[in-house]
Amino acid sequence: MKSFWNLMKFYFARHNPGASANEKRAATRELGVREAYRLWAPDYAAENVTCFLDEELARGMLIGLPRAQLLDAGCGIGHRIKNIPGAVGMDLSPEMLAAGGAPNVIAGDVRSMPFVSERFDMVWCRLVLGYLPDALPAYLEFARVCKPGGYVFVTDFHPDAVAAGHRRTFTAPDGTVHDIEHYVHNNHLKLAREAGLSAVSSWDGVVGPSIRHFYANGVGLKAYRRDKGLKLVAAHLFHKPD
Ligand SMILES: C[S@@+](CC[C@H](N)C(=O)[O-])C[C@H]1O[C@@H](n2cnc3c(N)ncnc32)[C@H](O)[C@@H]1O
Repeated sequence: MKSFWNLMKFYFARHNPGASANEKRAATRELGVREAYRLWAPDYAAENVTCFLDEELARGMLIGLPRAQLLDAGCGIGHRIKNIPGAVGMDLSPEMLAAGGAPNVIAGDVRSMPFVSERFDMVWCRLVLGYLPDALPAYLEFARVCKPGGYVFVTDFHPDAVAAGHRRTFTAPDGTVHDIEHYVHNNHLKLAREAGLSAVSSWDGVVGPSIRHFYANGVGLKAYRRDKGLKLVAAHLFHKPD
Protein backbone atom coordinates (compact mmCIF):
# COMPACT_ATOMS: atom_id res chain seq x y z
CA MET A 1 0.00 0.00 0.00
CA LYS A 2 1.32 3.43 -0.87
CA SER A 3 0.83 6.41 1.39
CA PHE A 4 -2.37 8.15 0.54
CA TRP A 5 -0.76 11.33 -0.69
CA ASN A 6 1.12 9.34 -3.27
CA LEU A 7 -2.11 7.76 -4.39
CA MET A 8 -3.29 11.31 -5.04
CA LYS A 9 -0.04 12.21 -6.83
CA PHE A 10 0.47 14.60 -3.94
CA TYR A 11 4.01 14.90 -2.75
CA PHE A 12 3.36 15.95 0.79
CA ALA A 13 3.09 12.47 2.23
CA ARG A 14 1.42 12.41 5.60
CA HIS A 15 2.76 10.03 8.19
CA ASN A 16 0.17 7.30 8.41
CA PRO A 17 0.10 5.51 11.74
CA GLY A 18 -1.79 2.65 10.11
CA ALA A 19 0.77 2.08 7.37
CA SER A 20 2.15 -1.39 6.84
CA ALA A 21 5.74 -2.22 7.80
CA ASN A 22 6.60 -2.38 4.09
CA GLU A 23 5.22 1.06 3.48
CA LYS A 24 7.19 2.49 6.37
CA ARG A 25 10.35 0.86 5.04
CA ALA A 26 9.64 2.03 1.50
CA ALA A 27 9.26 5.63 2.56
CA THR A 28 12.40 5.89 4.67
CA ARG A 29 15.01 6.46 1.94
CA GLU A 30 15.66 10.19 1.72
CA LEU A 31 17.19 11.52 -1.48
CA GLY A 32 19.09 14.73 -2.14
CA VAL A 33 17.27 17.15 -4.40
CA ARG A 34 19.37 16.55 -7.55
CA GLU A 35 18.92 12.80 -7.43
CA ALA A 36 15.23 13.08 -6.50
CA TYR A 37 14.34 15.24 -9.49
CA ARG A 38 16.48 13.15 -11.83
CA LEU A 39 14.29 10.18 -10.91
CA TRP A 40 11.00 12.08 -10.73
CA ALA A 41 11.38 14.03 -13.99
CA PRO A 42 9.64 11.55 -16.36
CA ASP A 43 6.47 11.52 -14.18
CA TYR A 44 6.50 15.04 -12.78
CA ALA A 45 3.83 16.41 -15.13
CA ALA A 46 1.03 14.52 -13.33
CA GLU A 47 -1.13 16.96 -11.39
CA ASN A 48 -0.69 17.15 -7.63
CA VAL A 49 -2.43 19.06 -4.88
CA THR A 50 0.52 21.27 -4.00
CA CYS A 51 0.98 22.49 -7.59
CA PHE A 52 -2.78 23.01 -7.87
CA LEU A 53 -2.88 25.21 -4.74
CA ASP A 54 0.24 27.08 -5.86
CA GLU A 55 -1.40 27.93 -9.17
CA GLU A 56 -4.56 29.07 -7.41
CA LEU A 57 -2.52 31.42 -5.21
CA ALA A 58 -0.62 32.80 -8.20
CA ARG A 59 -3.86 33.51 -10.07
CA GLY A 60 -5.20 35.47 -7.11
CA MET A 61 -2.04 37.35 -6.15
CA LEU A 62 -0.53 38.27 -9.52
CA ILE A 63 -3.53 39.87 -11.22
CA GLY A 64 -2.48 42.87 -13.29
CA LEU A 65 1.23 42.60 -12.48
CA PRO A 66 3.91 42.73 -15.21
CA ARG A 67 5.24 39.57 -16.82
CA ALA A 68 6.78 40.92 -20.03
CA GLN A 69 10.22 39.92 -18.71
CA LEU A 70 9.45 36.97 -16.50
CA LEU A 71 11.93 34.59 -14.87
CA ASP A 72 10.71 31.31 -13.37
CA ALA A 73 13.62 30.39 -11.07
CA GLY A 74 13.42 26.67 -10.30
CA CYS A 75 10.91 26.18 -13.11
CA GLY A 76 11.02 22.36 -13.02
CA ILE A 77 9.58 21.08 -16.29
CA GLY A 78 8.67 24.66 -17.25
CA HIS A 79 4.93 24.01 -17.36
CA ARG A 80 4.01 27.31 -15.71
CA ILE A 81 5.74 29.41 -18.37
CA LYS A 82 5.14 27.43 -21.53
CA ASN A 83 2.31 29.74 -22.66
CA ILE A 84 3.95 33.02 -21.64
CA PRO A 85 5.80 34.59 -24.58
CA GLY A 86 9.38 35.56 -23.77
CA ALA A 87 9.40 33.99 -20.30
CA VAL A 88 12.68 32.42 -19.19
CA GLY A 89 12.99 29.32 -17.02
CA MET A 90 15.92 28.05 -14.98
CA ASP A 91 16.28 24.88 -12.92
CA LEU A 92 18.95 22.87 -11.13
CA SER A 93 17.81 19.67 -12.83
CA PRO A 94 18.64 19.21 -16.52
CA GLU A 95 16.39 16.13 -16.45
CA MET A 96 13.38 18.22 -15.38
CA LEU A 97 14.10 20.80 -18.10
CA ALA A 98 14.46 18.07 -20.73
CA ALA A 99 11.27 16.30 -19.63
CA GLY A 100 9.21 19.47 -20.14
CA GLY A 101 10.76 20.44 -23.45
CA ALA A 102 9.96 24.13 -22.78
CA PRO A 103 11.80 26.75 -24.85
CA ASN A 104 13.95 29.45 -23.19
CA VAL A 105 15.14 27.34 -20.29
CA ILE A 106 18.62 27.01 -18.84
CA ALA A 107 20.24 24.95 -16.09
CA GLY A 108 21.33 26.87 -13.00
CA ASP A 109 21.09 27.34 -9.26
CA VAL A 110 18.80 29.95 -7.68
CA ARG A 111 21.65 30.90 -5.35
CA SER A 112 23.90 32.00 -8.22
CA MET A 113 21.93 32.72 -11.36
CA PRO A 114 23.38 33.12 -14.85
CA PHE A 115 21.58 36.43 -15.56
CA VAL A 116 22.69 40.04 -15.58
CA SER A 117 21.38 42.30 -12.84
CA GLU A 118 18.01 44.08 -13.23
CA ARG A 119 16.98 41.91 -16.20
CA PHE A 120 13.42 40.87 -15.16
CA ASP A 121 10.25 42.71 -14.14
CA MET A 122 8.81 39.61 -12.45
CA VAL A 123 10.73 36.79 -10.76
CA TRP A 124 8.93 33.62 -9.68
CA CYS A 125 10.37 30.97 -7.38
CA ARG A 126 7.65 28.42 -6.73
CA LEU A 127 7.97 25.39 -4.43
CA VAL A 128 11.77 25.49 -4.55
CA LEU A 129 13.14 27.21 -1.44
CA GLY A 130 12.23 24.32 0.87
CA TYR A 131 15.16 22.48 -0.71
CA LEU A 132 17.68 25.04 0.52
CA PRO A 133 19.07 24.92 4.06
CA ASP A 134 19.43 28.71 3.88
CA ALA A 135 17.16 30.69 1.56
CA LEU A 136 18.92 34.07 1.94
CA PRO A 137 21.36 33.59 -0.98
CA ALA A 138 18.38 32.91 -3.23
CA TYR A 139 16.55 36.03 -2.05
CA LEU A 140 19.69 38.10 -2.71
CA GLU A 141 19.75 36.72 -6.26
CA PHE A 142 16.04 37.41 -6.84
CA ALA A 143 16.57 41.01 -5.73
CA ARG A 144 19.65 41.34 -7.93
CA VAL A 145 18.05 40.14 -11.18
CA CYS A 146 14.77 42.01 -10.57
CA LYS A 147 14.39 45.48 -12.06
CA PRO A 148 13.68 48.36 -9.69
CA GLY A 149 9.89 48.56 -9.53
CA GLY A 150 9.58 44.84 -10.35
CA TYR A 151 8.12 41.97 -8.32
CA VAL A 152 9.27 38.71 -6.74
CA PHE A 153 6.76 35.91 -6.10
CA VAL A 154 7.80 33.04 -3.81
CA THR A 155 5.85 29.98 -2.72
CA ASP A 156 6.95 27.30 -0.28
CA PHE A 157 5.61 24.35 1.66
CA HIS A 158 3.83 25.68 4.68
CA PRO A 159 5.47 25.06 8.08
CA ASP A 160 2.02 24.06 9.44
CA ALA A 161 1.81 21.19 6.97
CA VAL A 162 5.23 19.92 8.02
CA ALA A 163 4.25 20.27 11.69
CA ALA A 164 1.12 18.22 10.95
CA GLY A 165 3.30 15.38 9.66
CA HIS A 166 3.29 15.95 5.91
CA ARG A 167 6.48 15.13 4.06
CA ARG A 168 7.80 15.77 0.58
CA THR A 169 7.79 12.46 -1.20
CA PHE A 170 7.44 11.02 -4.66
CA THR A 171 7.11 7.56 -6.13
CA ALA A 172 9.94 6.58 -8.48
CA PRO A 173 9.18 4.67 -11.69
CA ASP A 174 10.20 1.41 -9.94
CA GLY A 175 7.51 2.01 -7.29
CA THR A 176 9.86 3.05 -4.48
CA VAL A 177 8.57 5.89 -2.33
CA HIS A 178 11.27 8.44 -1.56
CA ASP A 179 11.43 11.33 0.85
CA ILE A 180 13.23 14.37 -0.51
CA GLU A 181 15.51 16.44 1.70
CA HIS A 182 13.52 19.39 2.94
CA TYR A 183 14.01 22.43 5.15
CA VAL A 184 11.28 24.44 6.88
CA HIS A 185 11.42 28.22 6.38
CA ASN A 186 9.21 30.45 8.46
CA ASN A 187 11.33 33.56 7.90
CA HIS A 188 10.54 34.50 4.29
CA LEU A 189 9.55 38.07 5.14
CA LYS A 190 12.75 38.65 7.12
CA LEU A 191 14.97 37.21 4.39
CA ALA A 192 13.28 39.24 1.68
CA ARG A 193 13.71 42.40 3.75
CA GLU A 194 17.41 41.61 4.19
CA ALA A 195 17.65 41.31 0.41
CA GLY A 196 16.08 44.76 -0.05
CA LEU A 197 12.57 43.67 -1.03
CA SER A 198 9.34 45.01 0.47
CA ALA A 199 6.43 42.77 1.34
CA VAL A 200 3.25 43.29 -0.69
CA SER A 201 1.04 40.38 0.41
CA SER A 202 1.14 36.86 1.86
CA TRP A 203 -1.56 34.26 1.30
CA ASP A 204 -1.92 30.61 2.32
CA GLY A 205 -3.19 27.69 0.25
CA VAL A 206 -5.40 25.60 2.55
CA VAL A 207 -7.22 22.31 2.37
CA GLY A 208 -10.72 23.33 1.29
CA PRO A 209 -13.37 22.99 -1.40
CA SER A 210 -11.04 23.70 -4.33
CA ILE A 211 -9.04 20.53 -3.64
CA ARG A 212 -11.85 18.39 -2.26
CA HIS A 213 -11.91 16.42 -5.52
CA PHE A 214 -8.33 15.23 -4.96
CA TYR A 215 -9.50 13.69 -1.70
CA ALA A 216 -12.76 12.36 -3.16
CA ASN A 217 -10.81 10.60 -5.94
CA GLY A 218 -8.00 9.50 -3.65
CA VAL A 219 -7.95 8.91 0.05
CA GLY A 220 -11.52 9.81 0.75
CA LEU A 221 -13.57 12.48 2.42
CA LYS A 222 -12.85 11.34 5.95
CA ALA A 223 -9.26 12.53 5.45
CA TYR A 224 -10.59 15.70 3.83
CA ARG A 225 -12.67 16.50 6.90
CA ARG A 226 -9.66 15.85 9.13
CA ASP A 227 -7.36 18.13 7.11
CA LYS A 228 -9.86 20.86 6.23
CA GLY A 229 -8.34 24.25 7.01
CA LEU A 230 -4.75 22.97 7.15
CA LYS A 231 -2.31 25.35 5.43
CA LEU A 232 -0.29 23.49 2.80
CA VAL A 233 1.35 26.24 0.73
CA ALA A 234 2.64 29.68 1.74
CA ALA A 235 2.84 32.38 -0.95
CA HIS A 236 4.57 35.75 -0.69
CA LEU A 237 4.65 38.67 -3.10
CA PHE A 238 7.46 41.23 -2.82
CA HIS A 239 8.28 44.49 -4.57
CA LYS A 240 11.71 45.88 -5.38
CA PRO A 241 11.63 49.60 -4.62
CA ASP A 242 12.43 52.04 -7.47
C1 LIG B 1 8.58 21.03 -6.59
S1 LIG B 1 9.50 21.39 -8.04
C2 LIG B 1 8.73 22.92 -8.53
C3 LIG B 1 8.91 23.21 -9.98
C4 LIG B 1 8.16 24.45 -10.45
N1 LIG B 1 8.64 25.65 -9.78
C5 LIG B 1 6.67 24.27 -10.20
O1 LIG B 1 6.13 25.06 -9.43
O2 LIG B 1 6.09 23.36 -10.77
C6 LIG B 1 11.04 21.93 -7.35
C7 LIG B 1 12.08 22.27 -8.40
O3 LIG B 1 13.12 23.01 -7.75
C8 LIG B 1 14.32 22.67 -8.37
N2 LIG B 1 15.43 23.10 -7.50
C9 LIG B 1 15.73 22.63 -6.28
N3 LIG B 1 16.79 23.28 -5.78
C10 LIG B 1 17.15 24.20 -6.71
C11 LIG B 1 18.19 25.19 -6.78
N4 LIG B 1 19.07 25.34 -5.79
N5 LIG B 1 18.26 25.95 -7.88
C12 LIG B 1 17.38 25.78 -8.91
N6 LIG B 1 16.40 24.87 -8.90
C13 LIG B 1 16.28 24.09 -7.81
C14 LIG B 1 14.22 21.18 -8.58
O4 LIG B 1 15.14 20.71 -9.52
C15 LIG B 1 12.75 21.06 -9.03
O5 LIG B 1 12.64 21.12 -10.42
